[in-house]
Amino acid sequence: MTDFNKLNRRDFLSISGMAGLSTLVASAVGVNFGMVQVAEAAAGKGKVTPFRFAILTDAHLFSHVDHKFDEMLVKAVNDCNKMKPQPDFVLYCGDIAQNGTPDQLEKGKRILSKLKMPIHFIPGEHDWYLDMGEAWRGNFGSPTWSFDHKGVHFIGMNSIIVRDFWTAAGMSAKERMDVMEMLESPIAGPWGVREEQLTWLKKDVKNLASDTPVVVFTHSPLWDYYPRWNFQTEDAPEIREILFRFERVMSFHGHVHIKRFTTKSAICPRLERFPLLGLGLIRMCN
Ligand SMILES: [Fe+2]
Ligand SMILES: [Fe+2]
Repeated sequence: MTDFNKLNRRDFLSISGMAGLSTLVASAVGVNFGMVQVAEAAAGKGKVTPFRFAILTDAHLFSHVDHKFDEMLVKAVNDCNKMKPQPDFVLYCGDIAQNGTPDQLEKGKRILSKLKMPIHFIPGEHDWYLDMGEAWRGNFGSPTWSFDHKGVHFIGMNSIIVRDFWTAAGMSAKERMDVMEMLESPIAGPWGVREEQLTWLKKDVKNLASDTPVVVFTHSPLWDYYPRWNFQTEDAPEIREILFRFERVMSFHGHVHIKRFTTKSAICPRLERFPLLGLGLIRMCN
């Protein structure tokens, strides 16, 4: 485990901040995994320009007016806007809504529209299973995307796709959502990004040089923390396989509502902050 107190400018990425922005939370990479050398190499080639981005996740907004979770999201937005220097952009890691209703998703969009910087979204299960992502897509666009920013390749994917358990059972949309809201559901099977997104991912990274830093965002972790609660992604091994050739890969996710930093092989998953909303500030160093 990395010693989070020993960050320096040679770290490729560091993570700090969260609601108040004063706490050093975690280093995303560490000497144990060779990332210090990677950062120096990146700086030497002039590929990565230092910048910051922030992560928000798991607001779980209810339909009630002035619910306390609204307040937490408003505070996170204000914190982001007050950062100096400001993050270049924000990434939202899923579960904006509690029950996936259009009003909850629209409320999230409204609050997050106050951010002074661009924001990118991926969905969580609480956003998706009432209408199979229709309202989410209407508000936030495609759940699968990538972009390059100052030498780093960012990827977002929808990791909460389950096999159809509802049609044969004759479930209503609400019953389907209720099943997916359960933390330990005996009905819904494991989650995944599935074939279509794996094919997209292969194509997306095909022409990238292996020394391009890659940062991947999914709602569920790309490592098996606790499969019974879907603290996992069924086809994460395939994702890791596709990304394995890259020298520097980091994975961020929401869903688990606790903060954890782990380093495993080529990917370093970090879990978001308990209880409901995580905010991470990431500083790219050279
Ligand atoms: Fe969540
Ligand atoms: Fe979730």
